[in-house]
Amino acid sequence: MSRIFLSNSAEETVSIGVDIAKTLVAGDKIAFIGGLGMGKTCITSGIAKGLGYEGDVTSPTFNIVNEYRGGRLPLFHFDLYRISGFEDLYSTGFFDYADEMGVMVCEWSENISSVFDDNTIYIKFERIDDSSRKITLFKGSESSENPIC
Ligand SMILES: Nc1ncnc2c1ncn2[C@@H]1O[C@H](COP(=O)(O)OP(=O)(O)OP(=O)(O)O)[C@@H](O)[C@H]1O
Ligand SMILES: [Mg+2]
Repeated sequence: MSRIFLSNSAEETVSIGVDIAKTLVAGDKIAFIGGLGMGKTCITSGIAKGLGYEGDVTSPTFNIVNEYRGGRLPLFHFDLYRISGFEDLYSTGFFDYADEMGVMVCEWSENISSVFDDNTIYIKFERIDDSSRKITLFKGSESSENPIC
């Protein structure tokens, strides 16, 4: 079943991430949908916190993937902005990380949507205004239409 959250600040988005983290299990893949500055990195810091990771979370813009270990499950945070095909994705270690059965969260999943499937948890961001976001969480199997919209 899909869940809809309304966030009125970056701090609220972090708290939503903390909440979502409680429901995550080994092997979960999260695909974010939503453009620049929507709060994808922000919610990831909440997910890390909710998993019990105590350090800072930063954008993986330059290194493509950041690893956060030490919490209930390892967290692998991808930025797929510059990834445009399976070969590219393979070279990031994406499939090796998938084998580790931690939690994977992927910014710019739109760039390689074919790698996500019915088991993927989609988190879609829509901008309401400068400080407010509608955040919708749904499983790939629940989407009746192409989720990348
Ligand atoms: N309700 C909100 N939730 C999350 N961020 C918000 C909210 N309102 C304002 N912001 C601001 O929007 C920005 C979100 O930045 P963040 O890095 O999380 O975005 P992003 O989706 O990861 O962007 P990018 O695609 O560039 O990586 C921050 O500057 C944050 O302060
Ligand atoms: Mg980001």
